[in-house]
Amino acid sequence: MTTTSAPTLAVNERSALPLHPIIGARFSPRAFSERDVTDDELRLVLEAARWAPSSMNEQPWRFLVVRRGGEGYAEMLSCIAPSNAVWADKAPVLILNMVHRQFARNGHENYHARHDLGLALGQFTAQATALGMGLHLLGGFDAQATRSVFGIPDVYDLVCITVLGFPGDPDSLPDNLRTRELNHSPRKPLEDLVHFGGFNG
Ligand SMILES: Cc1cc2nc3c(=O)[nH]c(=O)nc-3n(C[C@H](O)[C@H](O)[C@H](O)COP(=O)(O)O)c2cc1C
Repeated sequence: MTTTSAPTLAVNERSALPLHPIIGARFSPRAFSERDVTDDELRLVLEAARWAPSSMNEQPWRFLVVRRGGEGYAEMLSCIAPSNAVWADKAPVLILNMVHRQFARNGHENYHARHDLGLALGQFTAQATALGMGLHLLGGFDAQATRSVFGIPDVYDLVCITVLGFPGDPDSLPDNLRTRELNHSPRKPLEDLVHFGGFNG
């Protein structure tokens, strides 16, 4: 099993507050190293997702995993938007993240299904970061084509794709992407997001 250190980033000082390194060090890489993800590592990050909370414990998340050079990889890559595929093709693992839209017990719509997938992906991300992995979530893919290529029934929503591997050398990227890799995305100030005692717009 791999070490549990978080990746070393070009920019570490993302917050003035002492965030846990798993949160403070995470970013969405576009540069991936040659290093493959082992079966044990893959199982562990998926296991972390499995233990997420969910509405009525429905566990609506479903994951379709493909490995570079293996069954389904070329098909999934072909469904990713070209602007993402130019770097996503360097990562050893792609995972299609889906939800089952209905509660198993009564067939009613599960309003919280996508929310619960987000929680599961949060746990997946924390575990992956703890293993020194990097991952980048993608909404930029053709869900209709993906559904058709893999024969996925209508009751599943295709939400996003996880590009998973180990962070690589930013210098391997073209100039425009390297700049984005080294300048991590900003955040809104906490004051814009949090209301205490009443909602004031
Ligand atoms: C659901 C979802 C869809 C995303 N889709 C894309 C995408 O198609 N292409 C891309 O480059 N990044 C995509 N991202 C990554 C976001 O742009 C990124 O998380 C955000 O800019 C914050 O940067 P950070 O993750 O490095 O902190 C997506 C993220 C999420 C959660």
